[in-house]
Amino acid sequence: MELTKQAQMYEGKAKKVFATEDENYVIVSYKDDATANDGLKKGTISGKGVINNQMSNFLMQILEKEGVPTHFVKEINERDTVVKKVSIVPLEVIIRNISAGHFAQRYGVEEGIVFDEPTIEFSYKNDDLHDPLLNEYHALALKLATKDEIALIKQMAFKVNEVLKAYFLNLGVKLVDFKLEFGKTADGTIVLADEISPDTCRFWDAKTNEKLDKDRFRRDMGGVEDAYTEIFGRVMNEK
Ligand code: TMP
Ligand code: ASP
Repeated sequence: MELTKQAQMYEGKAKKVFATEDENYVIVSYKDDATANDGLKKGTISGKGVINNQMSNFLMQILEKEGVPTHFVKEINERDTVVKKVSIVPLEVIIRNISAGHFAQRYGVEEGIVFDEPTIEFSYKNDDLHDPLLNEYHALALKLATKDEIALIKQMAFKVNEVLKAYFLNLGVKLVDFKLEFGKTADGTIVLADEISPDTCRFWDAKTNEKLDKDRFRRDMGGVEDAYTEIFGRVMNEK
């Protein structure tokens, strides 16, 4: 059956979620709205929704082929995609290959240090608390996930890094860091959810270190739309 948008279930900062005729599936609709700095900075990145939807779907399909289960089901138009309905595990999972952003700030180091091994960190996905950093023991204490789920999430996150890091390097892009979210389907399966896009990853041109991601918006650098178009073009030309 062709699934179509029914009642809106939720509106987030960058996406809306709609019910469909089938309770196991929802439709996500990507907006051009952008926020940064814990929601304090608000703006629009023209065309972002179209780019993030298609880029995320494309990358999720690559990951599926590499054995990482995702929420992706079917792209229905430039902005809208059918995905499996999941309950989101309230953890933001951040993998870093190169120092940048909050890592550089928090530990007082410059950006651009290439790590020998990728790092992983978790934040508690809770806007009221401003997504505080936590470790696995805290996540367990707060019952955000089980021990097995956390182990699986870590394994999947590092696998995503391995696949995407190599993929982007081939496009002349350094995958500096990124944020993942995971969801649980009705039968309890953990799948990669949310999005993989220039909103949620740092991409640096391999030769020039030019930023091709949302940092241009976060830091008022200009050239935001051009950066999204550039990274999208590199990814989709590989199709
Ligand atoms: P950070 O250096 O600000 O912690 O960000 C690490 C990565 O996570 C970076 O690629 C941007 C992404 N990210 C999000 O997708 N959402 C967020 O709310 C934050 C803070 C970071
Ligand atoms: N999306 C997050 C917020 O609003 C932060 C970010 O991506 O920098 O605040």
